[in-house]
Amino acid sequence: MKILWNDRIVDRNECRIDPEDRGYQFGDGIYEVISFYNHQLFKLTEHMERLSYSAGEIAMDLPYSTEQIAENLKKLVELSDKADGQIYLQVTRGYAPRNHALPEKADPVLTAYLMHHPRPLDAQKTGVAAVTAEDVRWLRCDIKSLNLLGSILAKQKAVENGASETILHRGGTVTEGSSTNVFMVKNNTIYTHPINNLILNGITRRVVRDLAEKADIPFREEAFTTDDLMAADEVFLSSTIMEIMPVVRVDGQTIGTGRPGKVTKTLVQLFHEFVN
Ligand code: PDD
Repeated sequence: MKILWNDRIVDRNECRIDPEDRGYQFGDGIYEVISFYNHQLFKLTEHMERLSYSAGEIAMDLPYSTEQIAENLKKLVELSDKADGQIYLQVTRGYAPRNHALPEKADPVLTAYLMHHPRPLDAQKTGVAAVTAEDVRWLRCDIKSLNLLGSILAKQKAVENGASETILHRGGTVTEGSSTNVFMVKNNTIYTHPINNLILNGITRRVVRDLAEKADIPFREEAFTTDDLMAADEVFLSSTIMEIMPVVRVDGQTIGTGRPGKVTKTLVQLFHEFVN
């Protein structure tokens, strides 16, 4: 496996990370997951802008310009023997003797490599099941931080219940999924939590918004409750890996007809046309 290690592409066994790297010790770093289709990185500029935003919010300087990082990611994709896949990219604050406070000097460490999660085309036809859980993560979910324990434990609840995702809520208000944004459709209108500190500003979420506009489907950034969710006509998720994914059961209860709904199917179709 090839790794982009700072600004060089090396073999995996050449990549060395210090045990006192703050990413390793504190989760002090940020990441992005970026899809590529037909060897073309999808929404690369938006991912680079979000990486830059996350870095700014944790007072970390990126080690290279986003243009340089983007160029190196493209080189990595050129090495892919498969046309479709994803890049996992992370930047940690780098090595410093262990101390919670920010080090006066540390050189951020960038690593990136190719992943090949298959496109979820079959699951998009049937839809998936989800469960719900209280959102116990921190209050800066707008930062794409390496600290993912809240998401990990939430996703595990889904796995243990034979579901694909855990939909999180704060005191009954739906925020997002453990690694997805969450939408419901009621009377042909799409609802999703507004962009603030409680959710990640998903790149796929923005694609959903643009596709909804194109299809003349009203798109409202308004929070809704778990009761609204259970009574929705349709529920769907969005993320780089799941693309747009219909949810047909939540906590064992059928949503709508129990099959992917009209609005969701339209969005899935438009998404496929867009990436093709
Ligand atoms: N997760 N919300 C959370 C908490 C996420 O972790 C993600 C992405 C999203 C969707 O964002 P986007 O559309 O930009 O992928 C929303 C990535 C894929 C991951 O952690 O693997």
